[in-house]
Amino acid sequence: MSQPKPIRKAVFPVAGLGTRFLPATKAIPKEMLPIVDRPLIQYAVDEAREAGIEQMIFVTGRGKSAIEDHFDIAFELEKTMSERGKDLSVLGPTRLGPGNCAYVRQQEPLGLGHAIWCARDIVGDEPFAIFLPDEFMHANPGGTGCMKQMVDAYTHVGGNLLSVLEVPREQVSSYGVIDPGAESGALTQVRGLVEKPPVDRAPSNKIISGRYILQPQVMRVLEAQEKGAGGEIQLTDAMARMIGQQPFHAVTFDGQRYDCGSKLGYVEATLAVALERDDMGADVRAMAQRLLG
Ligand code: UTP
Repeated sequence: MSQPKPIRKAVFPVAGLGTRFLPATKAIPKEMLPIVDRPLIQYAVDEAREAGIEQMIFVTGRGKSAIEDHFDIAFELEKTMSERGKDLSVLGPTRLGPGNCAYVRQQEPLGLGHAIWCARDIVGDEPFAIFLPDEFMHANPGGTGCMKQMVDAYTHVGGNLLSVLEVPREQVSSYGVIDPGAESGALTQVRGLVEKPPVDRAPSNKIISGRYILQPQVMRVLEAQEKGAGGEIQLTDAMARMIGQQPFHAVTFDGQRYDCGSKLGYVEATLAVALERDDMGADVRAMAQRLLG
């Protein structure tokens, strides 16, 4: 196989309504909810950078301007902090340089597939990555991030890749599920995909978990697509149509995934990160023990 085209662009669909997190998400995007002191969207952008991705494309909607501000220069804040002798390094690598980011608007939240299609002109004719920032993919200590693991696999197999994880069978009907073929290490061939299947008709308990590498042809499939489950234009349905025409693999992430679109997942992620941190882990552990009595 010739060397596949590199993955240079990432799409971050952030135009969802975030209804499971109301009222917190009434005025701020759920992607700006912090895990300790970094917003979810920042973790996703950092994961993209680690994987060698240079251009970030955000599909936004109404009420999402905090995301643009977050990645911009905060001139007044930085000036005031400098004047007061405060350490600017706490801002971290939050700036995205000119030309390294683009924002497109999804005017109506018609589904994840529709959000991705809104980025078609900026993605152009090259393979690209997708990050769902509310799925927080936390690398193992000393390990690499989810997208880096996927890009490494992509350089060997090319085509399309999804990240997957196994869940108890009774939970599958909340997710996109793969029909698995041959397995080799962390890679599984994908024979089919189904969005939110009833438990008794699910082809496996391997669910799609918020990271994708897709070929640009998916945009043409999305263009022609009808609404699917939940009355939304589903990315899973578009990908399912590409199976058989192009290589399709799933990568089982070696790390932890937290569903930060749900309250319980968000609290768990916050605790896990806080417990791991050198500057607060011991205090958080002592605090938790105290609270538990
Ligand atoms: P979710 O299924 O988590 O939907 O979308 P949501 O609307 O954000 O949240 P709830 O279910 O109402 O709480 C998965 C990802 O797809 C994006 C979301 O922003 C999220 O990153 N999305 C979803 C869009 O960008 N547009 C859509 O029309 C739907």
